[in-house]
Order: sequence, then structure tokens, then C-alpha cells
Amino acid sequence: MSKLVYVAMSADLVHPGHLNIIRRASEFGEVVIGLLTDEAIASYKRVPFMTYEQRKEVIESIKGVNKVVPQHTLDYVPNLELLKPDHVVHGDDWKEGVQKITRQRVIDALAQWGGTLIEIPYTKGISSTKLHEAMKEIGITPDVRLKSLRRMIHVKPIVRLMEVHNGLSGLIAEHVHVDSPHGRREFDGMWASSLTDSTAKGKPDIEAVDVSSRMTTINDVLEVTTKPIIYDGDTGGRTEHFVFTVKTLERLGVSAVIIEDKTGLKKNSLFGTDVLQVQDSIENFSLKIQKGKEAQATRDFMIIARIESLILGKSVEDALERAQAYIAAGADGIMIHSKDKDPGTIFSFCRAYNEFPDRKPLVVVPSTYCQVSEEELSSYGVNVVIYANHLIRSAYPAMVKTARSILEHHRSFEAQEDMMGINEILELIPGGK
Ligand code: SPV
Ligand code: MG
Repeated sequence: MSKLVYVAMSADLVHPGHLNIIRRASEFGEVVIGLLTDEAIASYKRVPFMTYEQRKEVIESIKGVNKVVPQHTLDYVPNLELLKPDHVVHGDDWKEGVQKITRQRVIDALAQWGGTLIEIPYTKGISSTKLHEAMKEIGITPDVRLKSLRRMIHVKPIVRLMEVHNGLSGLIAEHVHVDSPHGRREFDGMWASSLTDSTAKGKPDIEAVDVSSRMTTINDVLEVTTKPIIYDGDTGGRTEHFVFTVKTLERLGVSAVIIEDKTGLKKNSLFGTDVLQVQDSIENFSLKIQKGKEAQATRDFMIIARIESLILGKSVEDALERAQAYIAAGADGIMIHSKDKDPGTIFSFCRAYNEFPDRKPLVVVPSTYCQVSEEELSSYGVNVVIYANHLIRSAYPAMVKTARSILEHHRSFEAQEDMMGINEILELIPGGK
């Protein structure tokens, strides 16, 4: 009887390395590919370009593949225990790093029925990570970028966004990453904040920076990034104007707009009841959502309704009633905001919201209740977390410190230790030389 050979792969960007593994595996018996699901891949690296179904279609048609089954976790063990293969075949590149533990679990599982791990030399010079980097350099089309947010929300336990207010902050959101034992962690996308865009322009956050100017900022960010963007649409302005904003955002490849249920002169929510802020009626705001949805040209763009009840000292019940109405009006998601340091009311909202039969993705902005981790938010059902102002809040004090140091010392020598070197700034953005 022919032997059973198990090979796990993501197979997003199929390259000769994959073909080599399959060819070698087929020399040992019948090859079953454990194709990682989108969720399994997103648990340790970026969401794949192609969906599971698309990747399955490609892999199934490769010579030497007998069968494709889904592998739902990065961990092979559940599938191995089910299939009890004679061999697992893998490249020899996983002895160190993130996959070391996975490898050991494979060896231990196989040992239970006398199976063996066969490691073949890794194909050098090509990898999906390298191809991905190359693709990033080429850029992305508006359509692909726009769609990517919905997919992320679908496959990731929580989507993590960083605020951007210019090209440079966009580059930080795009590229900064850390390597952890569970894989690479980076921001999934960007939040085009009204507060930080206004602040960067030296203006208050009262919709004084007009939509054309906000779009110029968005353009600067789009030019140097590939990740999805959620646009902070403030109140959305007049409904007659909001429909144009929706069309413009879609054309640019922005994935979603969040509008808040306030009316009149907008003030930043974090002032709470210290300033006069007026909440819109459910009827008016529902109509704005409905008109925005009608104006959409694509099926993928999202209009997310932001509820300001907790900001304005109203009850969780009021917020829930609004959430229900806004979803009925066509909202693709809900953002619940709070300026409390205690996340209690947010969590109460989440518990009741999760019971909605027509529940839509939930967004939070933990600027004040910042002690709460992403894991805890995710356990309450939160789908998107926004770090709404953090880059500018860290940049400004650093700049003031340098300015003061120069004034105090009549020279810049003392400020040097807090600054990047001249060469570093020259080389920060490639292509300048
Ligand atoms: C923003 O970033 O502009 C926001 C979030 O709208 S908040 O500042 O908390 O209102
Ligand atoms: Mg704002």
C-alpha cells in the first residue's frame, strides 16, 4: 500500500520552492496538502493575497498533489492525528525561529504511530516573504486596497489600526513590526484621524480642515503605503455633502468611513461634557447612513456608525438603541466611543451588542482606557482597535524637547543624543541619493 505523505503550506504566492517540496514529497507516497486557512495564516503573518478557495484551486492542479485538506491552525497536530501520515515533508528552514515549536510538535505526534519527518534542503533565493516585499514596492491598486479591510476583519481575531496624518506616519504604520514567538506583529491598517490631521496643520479638531485638504493628506499616505485605511469622517457634514465624500473615498481606495452621530459645530469627543456637543437624532443620522450607502459604487466600501452616547454622559441602553437603528439603516459596522478610564461601560455595551442577531463588526478607540489589551478587547468581541492619536502624541513632545534644548544651550550639540543622525535621515527614505 502506498504511503501517506503530509505537507502543510500557505501557498499564497506559489514559487519553485513549493513545487520542489511537492515533487520531493511525491517520491515518498501519496501527497496530501494541509492548506492553511486564511485564519491560520493571519494568526502569525499577514492575511494572504488569495482566499483559501483560490489557493486551493491552484494547489489542486499541481502535479503530484493527491488531495488538499484545510489546516485550521498553524499547529499540525490536529490534522496529523486525524490522518496519521507515514511522513511529513518540510523544508529544512524551520529549525530556528517562530516555527521551532511547531516542528517539535510534528516530530512528537508522528512518533506515536512510527511516522517520520523528512526535511529537504530549503530552496534558496526565493520565498513568499521576499515576493511580498517586492510586490509592496510595486504598490497596490485602489480596488485591492479597498477590499482588504473586510477580509482582514473576517479572518483576524482583531484588526489593529494606527493613526496617520502624513506620508511619514504612513510609512511607520506600513513598516514598523516586531518579531514575537508567535510570529510577526505589525499594524494591519491605518486610521486617518481628524484630530491628528488637524493638529499637524496647527488647527483645532472642529471640521475646520476641509474635506479637500483631508483628501490631500490621504493621498500623501496612499502614495507610500499598501495597507487599508479607515477615514475619520467626523459628523459626515451635511447629508448632501457626505454622499460626495463617500464617492471620493471609494475612488481613492479607502476601505471605510466612520461618521459620528453628532450635529452642529463638532468638538473632539475626548472633551466629553466639558464643551457643548449635540448628538444627532436617530432619524437624521440613520438617513445620513442610508444616503451614504446608496451613494456607494462598490459593494466593499464600509460605512461605520460611531455612537457618542457614552461620551455625552448618556446610558449604555441609549447607545444600544442607536446601534440597532444604525444597523437597520445600513451601517456596515459600529464604533462605540468612551472617554472613561474605566472600560466597564464599553464592556457592558459589548456584552449586549454581541447578542444582536444582525451584529456587525465592532470598532473601539481605547485612548483613555489604554490599560486594556488587544486580547481582552477581542475576548469582548471587538473586531477593530484604533490607536487614534499615538504617533503625533509621541512626536510633539520630542520636537519641543529639541527646540528647548537649542534655546537653552545656544547650540544643537546637547540635543544630538535624542535625534537620529544626519546620515540616518538622509537614508530614511530610499531613492534620495
Ligand atoms: C480622531 O482621532 O480624530 C477621533 C478619535 O475621532 S477621538 O479623538 O477620540 O475623538
Ligand atoms: Mg476625529
